[in-house]
Amino acid sequence: MTKAIEVKNLDYKYSDGTEALRDISFSIDKGSKTALLGPNGAGKSTLIMHLNGILLPQRGKVIIDGKEVNKKTEREIKKKVGVVFQDPDDQVFSTTVWEDVAFGPVNMGIAEEVVREKVEKALKLVDMWQLKDKMPYHLSYGQKKRVALAGILAMDSDIIVLDEPGAYLDPRGKHDLFEILNELHRNKKTLLIATHDINLVAEWADRIIILKEGQLLKEGDRSLLLEEEILMQANLTLPIVPSIFLQACCQRSKIPVTVEEAVNILKRVMR
Ligand SMILES: Nc1ncnc2c1ncn2[C@@H]1O[C@H](COP(=O)(O)OP(=O)(O)OP(=O)(O)O)[C@@H](O)[C@H]1O
Ligand SMILES: [Mg+2]
Repeated sequence: MTKAIEVKNLDYKYSDGTEALRDISFSIDKGSKTALLGPNGAGKSTLIMHLNGILLPQRGKVIIDGKEVNKKTEREIKKKVGVVFQDPDDQVFSTTVWEDVAFGPVNMGIAEEVVREKVEKALKLVDMWQLKDKMPYHLSYGQKKRVALAGILAMDSDIIVLDEPGAYLDPRGKHDLFEILNELHRNKKTLLIATHDINLVAEWADRIIILKEGQLLKEGDRSLLLEEEILMQANLTLPIVPSIFLQACCQRSKIPVTVEEAVNILKRVMR
């Protein structure tokens, strides 16, 4: 099966000499839910900017759904990969919220009637429909982040990459985001999220990629979230659920990672 994303020996150096990515290689299966972790400055956003051709590889390759990202494929790749940037000010720029969300689908040549439906659905999903006529410039940061997410939802790309999607969102907004991610997963989208929210990762991700100082520190499945040594090296902590169970009792092999797994254990014990 073709992978959704393949990154091979990717290097990227900024013009001031910062080596932001060094020999990064990994791949992501179609339909998977991957978390990209790592300390501030690890290279997560730089890597993400390579996934839809905002940055082009200086060495190595980025392959999306079997197609190498380069000047020629850039346009096609941008339709395939929707990216929500870390800073919504880099993304939200139209005169009204509505126009901003419509920008992507209009550029993709989608019929006006269909664009209208997609924009309405996306703005309602992120709870911003009421503010559809407002100037994005006047929105709060969390509201801008919601609009940026709506813009990507309206494009309906196969691969969706979110750089710190929960930043600035209130708890209800984070909960809604989690529901949206699950819905996207049910719709067979490939999802990649860069985040520092280790508890969101524990609840949500099935694959974990950890970067440190521009290099790939480790990748693996959810059991990586129990490896305290590795987590510490990446300025991360254990998620709250395994942290409680490790302190309270339990062999490592029986430690739950999600709230649901923990609840099931507690129900058995307390019955
Ligand atoms: N435009 C730029 N010019 C020079 N250096 C840059 C530029 N953008 C990022 N960097 C540097 O590249 C490295 C990687 O930055 P990047 O933003 O990719 O990290 P990150 O993992 O996304 O961090 P954070 O968790 O803070 O979002 C950092 O050392 C940063 O200072
Ligand atoms: Mg970043």
